Amino acid sequence: MLLSKKQKDIFLNELIDFLKIPSISADSNFQKEIYKAAKWTQNSLKEAGCEKTEIFKTKGNPIVYGEKIIDPSLPTILTYGHYDVQPPDPIELWDSPPFKPIIKKTKIHPDGAVFARGSCDDKGQLFIHIKALEIMISNNSLPCNVKFMIEGEEEIGSGNLEIFLKNNKQLLKNDIILISDTSMISNSQPSITNGLRGLSYMELILTGPNRDLHSGIYGGAVFNPINELAKIISKLHDSNNKISIPGFYKNVINISKNERNKMSLAPFDIKKYKKELEIEEVHGEKGFTTLERTSIRPSLDVNGIWGGYTGEGAKTVIPSKAHAKISMRLVPNQDWEEISMLFSKYVKSLTPKGVSLKIIKHHGGAPYVTPTKSNGYKAAHLAYSKSFKIEPLPQRGGGSIPIVPLFEKILKSKSILMGFGLDSDSIHSPNEHFGIFNLFKGIETIPAFYKNFKNFFVD
Ligand code: BES
Ligand code: MN
Ligand code: MN
Repeated sequence: MLLSKKQKDIFLNELIDFLKIPSISADSNFQKEIYKAAKWTQNSLKEAGCEKTEIFKTKGNPIVYGEKIIDPSLPTILTYGHYDVQPPDPIELWDSPPFKPIIKKTKIHPDGAVFARGSCDDKGQLFIHIKALEIMISNNSLPCNVKFMIEGEEEIGSGNLEIFLKNNKQLLKNDIILISDTSMISNSQPSITNGLRGLSYMELILTGPNRDLHSGIYGGAVFNPINELAKIISKLHDSNNKISIPGFYKNVINISKNERNKMSLAPFDIKKYKKELEIEEVHGEKGFTTLERTSIRPSLDVNGIWGGYTGEGAKTVIPSKAHAKISMRLVPNQDWEEISMLFSKYVKSLTPKGVSLKIIKHHGGAPYVTPTKSNGYKAAHLAYSKSFKIEPLPQRGGGSIPIVPLFEKILKSKSILMGFGLDSDSIHSPNEHFGIFNLFKGIETIPAFYKNFKNFFVD
């Protein structure tokens, strides 16, 4: 199936409309926009031809549901996505305003890309599925039943989705879950994400003296919590850049040489990688390649650190408090609750008497691996092969979508991750964008998946 020029223009304008809504889930000042984006999603599902649509209220942001059931004996595909987006900060680093979408050509996207927060993660990618459905319904070629579940809290940990799944098992019953919220290798080499890393997100607050002190009067005589926090953080990795938390690696599944060799056949240009990031060297766990470090190996990073005086000029002060947000990416078979506990235990052991430590456990989630021998995977493989005219490669993703393992646990369904973005599309960063080629190729690929999935389906 190929899109006409007219269809392309209409679709692009609709997506631009969607991208203008600043549906930022992390900031409560944007609640109205969250509702607006949910409503927009519901309307576009209706217009695509969903017979039943509903906005479900939760304790947090609403979940948009839509369905088109053509025949209960046919397989049912449940599409998941998220209409919420990351905050655009640091806003001054954007070349154009994050919620005023514009189209620009780039080296990687010679046909142009839409620049806006959420363009790739995940509004542009979920929009692919709505338009694919619209086309299949309009030309009478929809081969399966369809359900949509689009949430508004993915970027803040999907805290209210688990209970929604538990309460709506029948409504959400499906034969496969389809998600476009990951990336592929390049526009000339598509890939299917066959794994996601898990996550454990922690925050540390160290308190020294009861108030900020003059660093001349007290300096040298009391604990400075920022100094202590820096020491703790420096002990989280060893000299081989392995994570030093006792027990951290004990459940990690080591990947066989054979499989690692297979992985290394995927196209990856380390020179380009360094050039794109403007770094002289890469850095990571000894004994593993860059691709391995970002997929089959766990990692630990400080995501934010603050305390003391950070304003203009100089202020001589010993702060009372120091803060850090630290997250760990996990791989099969690590249990995020256990890792959070081991992390806390280790940090406690590193904190000297005289400084008090508070640990906040934020969200987390399990890693996920999709089988590459399933009908869903085969259907996706054939769909990419047809529309890109080259076979897709399996690739483990480095990011996390914590709800995916819960789909398996609660709904007993597998997920297929058909991402159409690129790692260089700057998701979560300034100047996020999504290739127009990727958008339209996505819309052309999804109907092929539906068709293949139906053909493979045996109840
Ligand atoms: N879409 C991303 C996850 C992703 C991106 C996976 C690229 C693989 C490749 C998702 O929206 C996301 O950002 N997830 C968060 C976790 C969440 C709990 C905030 C992440 O990975 O940091
Ligand atoms: Mn996403
Ligand atoms: Mn994201």
